[in-house]
Amino acid sequence: MQKLNASKLETTRSFKKVTIILNKTKFLEKIEELEKIEELEKLKSELLLFRNIINLSEKDREGLVNIDTDGDTIILRRDILLAEMDQILEAFTIERAKYYLKRLEEGIKKAKTNKINDINLSRWKEYDEIITDSLWVLDKRDSSGAHLGWYWGNFIPQIPHQMMLRYTKKGDWVLDTFVGSGTTLIECRRLGRNGIGIELNSEVAEKARNLIDKEPNKHNTIAETITGDSRTINTNSILSEHGKKNVQFLIMHPPYYDIIKFSQEPNDLSRAPTVDSFLKMFGEVVDNTYPFLENKRYFALVIGDKYSKGEWIPLGFYCMNEVLKRGYLLKSIIVKNFEETRAKRNQKELWRYRALVGGFYLFKHEYIMLFKKKVGNNASFK
Ligand SMILES: C[S@@+](CC[C@H](N)C(=O)[O-])C[C@H]1O[C@@H](n2cnc3c(N)ncnc32)[C@H](O)[C@@H]1O
Repeated sequence: MQKLNASKLETTRSFKKVTIILNKTKFLEKIEELEKIEELEKLKSELLLFRNIINLSEKDREGLVNIDTDGDTIILRRDILLAEMDQILEAFTIERAKYYLKRLEEGIKKAKTNKINDINLSRWKEYDEIITDSLWVLDKRDSSGAHLGWYWGNFIPQIPHQMMLRYTKKGDWVLDTFVGSGTTLIECRRLGRNGIGIELNSEVAEKARNLIDKEPNKHNTIAETITGDSRTINTNSILSEHGKKNVQFLIMHPPYYDIIKFSQEPNDLSRAPTVDSFLKMFGEVVDNTYPFLENKRYFALVIGDKYSKGEWIPLGFYCMNEVLKRGYLLKSIIVKNFEETRAKRNQKELWRYRALVGGFYLFKHEYIMLFKKKVGNNASFK
């Protein structure tokens, strides 16, 4: 009988995160066969043969792997599946081995998802890409495909990417009221979500449209960028055109008051004359969108603070309060590191000196505030 050695297990654990397409019925039949074995060593030797097929697909003579995705198939992360098999191979009793085997079977048989995303909780280990900590330190922006990062004041694509993976399903509708260069809609395309973006600046909106169109639309979803003022735009009629009454996710990345002045327009939030009027305008956008977010669904606000005249202005928390006044509950506050702007990088020393003299800390973070719409406040369409 073949025995497992530790170095083999190690190789498995460091295996690249590649996926494997399996014939679901055949895979489950194989597991059921193994479950019938009553002797631990025999079960292990049979499982080892099975594992070799998963590990090296070329050894497959039974049509378990190497098949097309359509039909009765399941896509699994190979490294996770091998680790699960190794756990069985390391079991000391037949009961334990069968317990792990059963767990593997159930995870494949019964996808356990909730209403707001496509994560199969039975196989939650496969989703290590999804961040669940409240501190995000991301060293590099995703600059693949249409994510050119040309717009001053954009956010990194990983923000909408992460949010949509956790708070939307394929085919859901997403609304971004400050869509700027279209980062959210490009991600929507990639992930198979429909997206509507509102942008005040028509030139920016046009450029966003062109870029979004360059992103392959393999899920055949809709991405619409509309020029308008998010405080007053008729969201109802926009959604009606698509036969929809509401969206399943809302994301807002407003100007951080006047840090970047996006246009000369008085209805641009970055042109608000005071912090109070900025907050009032922001509140109007929240009001204008609130009825169109489906009950119990999520709203992500991406915002940073500001420093002015020797004082830290907690814009993030002020905006959070505006949202909380309006029928949302707070689910999380994520603190995300901040990419240095080129201007700041060139003046790093100077800024450090200023901070030491002025008794303050340099901004290195912004917030992603996550809200959930409360129950019972459903759409009263404007
Ligand atoms: C921080 S940027 C958003 C950037 C976007 N997340 C991206 O990745 O490109 C804020 C955007 O809000 C827009 N804006 C300001 N006031 C607005 C309003 N009343 N309605 C709609 N958009 C507005 C600005 O023109 C700017 O493009």
